[in-house]
Amino acid sequence: MIMTRILMVCLGNICRSPLAHGILESKLPSDKFEVDSAGTANYHIGKSPDHRSIAIAKAKGLDISNQKCRQFELSDFDNFDIIYVMDQSNYDNVVKLARDAEDIAKVKLILQDAQTSTGHEVPDPYWGNTQDFEDVFTLLDDACEKISYNLNR
Ligand code: 4NP
Repeated sequence: MIMTRILMVCLGNICRSPLAHGILESKLPSDKFEVDSAGTANYHIGKSPDHRSIAIAKAKGLDISNQKCRQFELSDFDNFDIIYVMDQSNYDNVVKLARDAEDIAKVKLILQDAQTSTGHEVPDPYWGNTQDFEDVFTLLDDACEKISYNLNR
């Protein structure tokens, strides 16, 4: 069985990438796809997702409360086929660690093909309010819908 492995990456791995992880996982068959998430920073290693991300996910029928924060590591370039980052700064942080062109080619902005009010970035909601988390959920749900459609074709 060939598995496609997809990694969602943000800065803290407590707000955006846990949502992207839970949303995409819910849209793909688990026998063919593995989804995970990580943060480029080490601030919150071992922690659960932010309570506001857990809450918005729950309101939309997804349980992400069992996820645990981990830091992005070099072996992720070997263990994943696609690495989706949330914003340009995540992109720069991940690409800085790349060893070769093959590593770099795996890294994509999750909104790369979307033209949204926030450009190609999923804004960091950490210092924001409930509405910001709602908006992030909507952006990620749309993006993951397109990604899952394209992967399943
Ligand atoms: P995330 O949000 O990258 O979407 O998980 C953040 C979470 C924590 C911090 C920054 C962004 N922080 O500075 O602790």
